[in-house]
Amino acid sequence: MTDIIQLLPDNIANQIAAGEVIQRPASAVKELLENAVDAGATEIKLFVNDAGKSLIQVIDNGNGMSDTDARMCFERHATSKIKNIDDLFRIRTMGFRGEALASIAAVAQVELKTKRKADEAGTYIEIENSLVKLQEPVAYTQGTSIAMKNLFFNVPARRNFLKSNAAEMRHIVDEFIRVALAFPELFFSLTSNGQQVFHLEKGSLKQRIIQILGNHYNAKLVTVQEKTDYMNIYGFVGKPDTAKKTRGDQYFFVNNRFIKSPYLNHAVMNAYQEMIAQDSFPLYVLFIDLDPSQVDINVHPTKQEIKFEDEKIIYAFIQSAVKHALAQFSITPTLEFDLDPGIQQLDAVTQPFTADKQAAAAASDLYKNFSQKNQAHFIQPSEKSELKHWKDFYEGTGREETAEPSEKFESLLDKLKKEEQTGDGFEYQHSITAGKIELKVLDDAGFLQLMNTYVIASTNRGFILIHQQTAHERILYERYTTAGHGSSMAAQRLLFPVTLQLSAQDTALLHDLIPDLNQLGYLVEPFGKDSFVIQGTPADMIQGDERVSIENLLEQFKHFSNELKFSKREKLVRSLANQHAIKAGQYLEEKEMEALVNDLFRCAQPNINTSGIPTYIEFKKDYLAQLFKR
Ligand SMILES: Nc1ncnc2c1ncn2[C@@H]1O[C@H](COP(=O)(O)OP(=O)(O)OP(=O)(O)O)[C@@H](O)[C@H]1O
Ligand SMILES: [Mg+2]
Repeated sequence: MTDIIQLLPDNIANQIAAGEVIQRPASAVKELLENAVDAGATEIKLFVNDAGKSLIQVIDNGNGMSDTDARMCFERHATSKIKNIDDLFRIRTMGFRGEALASIAAVAQVELKTKRKADEAGTYIEIENSLVKLQEPVAYTQGTSIAMKNLFFNVPARRNFLKSNAAEMRHIVDEFIRVALAFPELFFSLTSNGQQVFHLEKGSLKQRIIQILGNHYNAKLVTVQEKTDYMNIYGFVGKPDTAKKTRGDQYFFVNNRFIKSPYLNHAVMNAYQEMIAQDSFPLYVLFIDLDPSQVDINVHPTKQEIKFEDEKIIYAFIQSAVKHALAQFSITPTLEFDLDPGIQQLDAVTQPFTADKQAAAAASDLYKNFSQKNQAHFIQPSEKSELKHWKDFYEGTGREETAEPSEKFESLLDKLKKEEQTGDGFEYQHSITAGKIELKVLDDAGFLQLMNTYVIASTNRGFILIHQQTAHERILYERYTTAGHGSSMAAQRLLFPVTLQLSAQDTALLHDLIPDLNQLGYLVEPFGKDSFVIQGTPADMIQGDERVSIENLLEQFKHFSNELKFSKREKLVRSLANQHAIKAGQYLEEKEMEALVNDLFRCAQPNINTSGIPTYIEFKKDYLAQLFKR
């Protein structure tokens, strides 16, 4: 009998090993982003095509590699990050196994460009199936670009295992968000099929959370911060009212590494006890820093599970830190209005406000931006007008003539502070002006349509100029959103149902949307392989163009498809609202104008449409009088 045991060729051994590290496009994204962070980059750009199936590229401005290292980095167990086993317990970098690039090169076609600052020329390498195809010098700026094409091109079984582009893209975004949250001090962007999905300027952790999870969290985050000799915990938890029915925005980072830990999650949930419903999930983004010797990160190939030396201490610590934070927030609600530490340290706040600083502040972009652009009720002064920014600020109270510079600046800070709290200028404006008590539309004065686009309505304080399209978008948006939470919208059945044939992609999309569409008044049913039959439409829709309406709706929906922060429902509601809104240029009867204005002011947030564009501008009596110098 001959011997039967053989050593596997390198490329096959690599492919097998790669199975653990690179399971799907998102795992490659994670590895490449982490390498860029480890390389000291301050700007990291991720590009993907076809949800990473055809291309994943990460470009960083980090340290780069020498030509020898550029070749070495694709070897297995090749790493610059540890030298011996003890280093494993001193780890501060994301990587340490020297596995990632070897795995990537085993299952994709990879192109690497890299250059260190001091080197004259950079290095270009092409590698596929673990074999170097080309290595040559290349002109390049400092940093590294790694492009991996056609993932699993040589492992068809794995390629076939991949899910739909939408599903794979969701995994990619998850990984991207995890790294981006862990390093708010770095710039990140994500571009998918040529469209930028995220553009995250560097900033504070709070800013990063808001960039990613949405502005509405601005006033909803409670700071967690506890320090001991053993460990530190910091970050944010959501106020109890932000808890959602679906688990989602929950992040733990240990020494900046995202980890999954049902045990620690339990600790946070415990801290919320009785503050939230049993089946709901609070938001948290928590960072735990402790001596690396107290954690073993080498217990799982993807490094997302770790073992603590003393898990019970960590549990108790997290629970009490979160409890403490939540208690402080509920006993002294003003805590939440603390200014961002970044602002408190500004010279402008800590030092006296001199006349030249005042001039500089008035001229600064920051000041101009919030005093103008984002105000629903800002009225552009004409070139010749003597009313300048300060006066607009005080809206004719007469105070501006006498106020001292410091007083003005305090108010400026006040505004800044309020803007901080609410997240954007609109909400703030909304709260002081759009309250229905203050602003009363006078029906008896009648309504006037101008240019078939604007509606003028008298109010107790002057008049408002409404943009009929943006206003109607807001009205429909709120109507459809409410329909989503309970009773369905009324539908009208068509006498002659209409059939609709779609492309494979649109068919899949429409299938997915049918339950929501039904609730919103569209009665659509599948009818054969790629056909549908439309049985009814929302009661307030004019009949006759049902087919076009669904096609347009799908287009609109796709237009929002990169807005990953929106749920499917939200995208649908926005698409419907935009599509069904009265358009600019459409003639309105008096009754229609009246309904529009009344409906608008019944909205929860009447002053902007869903894209943040003002729905109306208010002209106050006082302000008009000033314009005419009366
Ligand atoms: N973007 C980059 N810029 C500079 N050097 C890099 C970059 N990516 C990788 N390297 C170098 O290549 C080596 C190998 O990278 P690889 O990701 O395979 O392993 P690792 O990061 O050390 O460990 P792990 O497998 O845990 O990620 C790294 O140790 C690093 O020295
Ligand atoms: Mg790595």
